[in-house]
Amino acid sequence: MADTKPEYVELLNTIRLQEYGAGIYLKAWADKTADAGLKHCLSFVAEREVSHGDLMDRRIRELGFQPEGTEDGNFKERMEILGSDMSDAEKIQCIKEAAQKQEKPTVRDKYIVAAHDPAVDPLTRTLLGWFADVEADSGAMMSQTYKNVDGVN
Ligand SMILES: [Fe+2]
Repeated sequence: MADTKPEYVELLNTIRLQEYGAGIYLKAWADKTADAGLKHCLSFVAEREVSHGDLMDRRIRELGFQPEGTEDGNFKERMEILGSDMSDAEKIQCIKEAAQKQEKPTVRDKYIVAAHDPAVDPLTRTLLGWFADVEADSGAMMSQTYKNVDGVN
């Protein structure tokens, strides 16, 4: 095991917790919505999120460290909103507001930098670069889907 934990291992753990959390709350929302297109999109992305959580978990262990924690700091609030009986349009509004309130640099900003940082080992860089692409694809799919939800302007 390496002596000191590189900062990017913390980043992998942050992503791990965020992805596992998103896998749960997006699935909860998919189970609630009556909009078939939205349900499909949310289920599809939720599955990706869980698998990303698993990949980060494994990579942390491959690097000789232990994954830490079980819950992202925003998880409870997201779950309360997205698993609730609020309308889909209201949930989408909450997500957009939360995205605007994110601290800078965001976790996404950080992993995009790490994907090109020579201090990060090559396999992890490849993983983060691929992950960034998949997340962008999920984001594009979701924003496209949100446009067709009733009450979203
Ligand atoms: Fe994600």
